[in-house]
Amino acid sequence: MAEIKRVAVLGAGTMGAGIAQIAATAGMDVRLRDVADGPIQKGLETIRSSLDRIVAKAAKAGKATMTDAARTEVLGRIRTTTSLDEAVADADLVVEAIPERMDWKKECLASVEAAAPAHAVLATNTSSLSITDIASAAKDPSRVVGMHFFNPVPVMELLEVVRGLRTSDAAVAAARATGERMGKTVIVVRDSPGFATSRLGVCLAAEAIRMLESGVASAEDIDRAMELGYRHPMGPLRLTDLVGLDVRLAILDHLHREVGEQFRPPPLLRQLVRAGKLGKKTGEGFYRWEK
Ligand code: 3HC
Repeated sequence: MAEIKRVAVLGAGTMGAGIAQIAATAGMDVRLRDVADGPIQKGLETIRSSLDRIVAKAAKAGKATMTDAARTEVLGRIRTTTSLDEAVADADLVVEAIPERMDWKKECLASVEAAAPAHAVLATNTSSLSITDIASAAKDPSRVVGMHFFNPVPVMELLEVVRGLRTSDAAVAAARATGERMGKTVIVVRDSPGFATSRLGVCLAAEAIRMLESGVASAEDIDRAMELGYRHPMGPLRLTDLVGLDVRLAILDHLHREVGEQFRPPPLLRQLVRAGKLGKKTGEGFYRWEK
């Protein structure tokens, strides 16, 4: 298996920016693509501030793991574009990290396959959508694999690699090797709704929202229960604010359709999403967030 040297990341949102950052930190040349300059600049800002934290943390610990010079090099390895064809033209690996819409993901994959080199592995970062279904939009679905990253991408240790029904061993091996180079611990799971992570993660979130709806306790206390009683780094409601209420609603809607009644989204979640309260990214969800 040839080493992945050039990575195209499609989508400069929270996940795309994080993936671009860790790929560049691992020494890969990155092309970060979004549809307009606005989201690209926002993505670059996310990367710069994350690298600042990592530099400050290394300096405090007296370690040379990330210096100012290394930060500049990492940023220098990330080039941006609004052209999909340009982004993927010489990529060894394409990681698509656009919003969780099956129709968009399929359309994107078909365009990527037409423009990327024949050897490129085509990965999709999805929380729960079927890799087999997304891959059906490709002429060669064996090249398509799931690479599910976690927010904040530079901090979280896990990469969940998802094998679709027709994903080749070579694509799984490339995704695994790339994840390990990025410093992640990799698990490989079979394509099934919500994989090994989201299926469990949204159960806790949905139940916490139902508890809030029925007045069991305040959002703060429900979160405190899990943070202090179960040592979760963050309670389920705060975590939903971090992930995005819209993202979690999309996962629940999908699992409700695919798996069953236990995943029916709580009405409060749908209401908050309709009101534009999507969590940290919009300044309000279950909590208010300062800039
Ligand atoms: N970039 C770089 N470093 C960061 C960072 C970022 N974006 N965010 C946090 N950090 C670092 C901080 O510098 C800090 O380092 P230090 O402790 O060594 O000084 C460390 O991470 C902890 O950060 P904070 O002190 O700011 O705050 P916390 O201790 O509360 O940690 C957290 C923040 C890492 C987000 C922690 O609360 C956590 O792990 N929460 C759970 C996150 C989680 O479960 N994510 C998965 C969500 S599901 C998902 O993403 C799947 C998708 O499909 C939806």
